Amino acid sequence: MRGITVRGCGISVPDKVVTNDDLSATLDTNDAWISERTGIKERRVGGITSQMAIEAGKRALEDAGLEPSDIDIVLLATTTPDALVPGTSATVQAGIGVPGGAFDVNAACSGFVYGLVTAAGLAAVGSGRILLIGADALSRITDWDDRTMAVLVGDGAGAVVVEPVEGPGGLLSWNMGADGSLRHLLKCDHGGYLFMDGKEVFRKAVRVVVESAERAMADAGLRATDIDLLVPHQANLRIIQAACQRLGIPEERTSVVIDRYGNTSSASIPLALEDALRNGKVPDGATLLLTGFGGGMTWASAVLRWRA
Ligand code: COA
Repeated sequence: MRGITVRGCGISVPDKVVTNDDLSATLDTNDAWISERTGIKERRVGGITSQMAIEAGKRALEDAGLEPSDIDIVLLATTTPDALVPGTSATVQAGIGVPGGAFDVNAACSGFVYGLVTAAGLAAVGSGRILLIGADALSRITDWDDRTMAVLVGDGAGAVVVEPVEGPGGLLSWNMGADGSLRHLLKCDHGGYLFMDGKEVFRKAVRVVVESAERAMADAGLRATDIDLLVPHQANLRIIQAACQRLGIPEERTSVVIDRYGNTSSASIPLALEDALRNGKVPDGATLLLTGFGGGMTWASAVLRWRA
């Protein structure tokens, strides 16, 4: 049996910071509304998916003490590819100088967890190390005159190295789901802008995230009290708080970066993971619960023992 361990983590966000007050200058909105309803204070914009992914990927390699030649596959979770063809992972593969394969996964904001499970499957059938990256530039598909979307989104990328190990490894359990009959709730047509039915997404998101996380914990034979850190998708602080409450995980044991980055889709979970690592909240052996939801709708959770 071959499992995985995750080692190394790196992120990249654009330099340009846009605060709530900046948005209030051009939109009928204000800092109080955005902060209270979403928890967002500022976001980074102006990113290019491939460029952020390359930078985050290089930093994850450096953090793991590895070279590009140590990687077999680049797996890029993104919902904002640079182009329809080729896959953005190909640009990232060439940009980093990885010798092996490369492909994109699009499961919207659940993409990073979908990618983690996919990487574990590749490891199980004999692949070498996988560079897993979540990167999105939602700012590029956002109508900046539409206050309902503009206040929510941001750009960023986060990467980890997924390494095969003999034995069960650190991915203790996983859960993935989708309901395409809800695709109208959150969508962006070719050449168009993001549209979202915010209220309905909010309601569904809390339900599916809690169900998915509970299933993943049950499959790992764990309870909420066994989870050292919840690393959730960062779409709205109120969704995170509602999920924490229903799961019985205290907010102090949750990584939150939405205040600084807004909703960065596939990047939000690795951004939250890196922040927790940097702040010493993830000792070796810590049990993490990663959980996300997004357009599709899709959802996914994974219980991961750090450096197991
Ligand atoms: N600034 C100021 N006022 C705004 C606003 C903005 N940016 N956007 C909407 N409003 C107004 C509305 O017009 C409405 O006014 P009204 O009461 O006069 O009609 C009022 O604020 C409340 O709007 P509503 O849409 O009911 O707010 P809400 O509490 O549902 O919050 C979201 C809106 C989008 C923050 C919330 O629904 C949400 O977070 N949904 C889920 C988002 C999500 O998870 N997306 C990502 C999925 S991956």
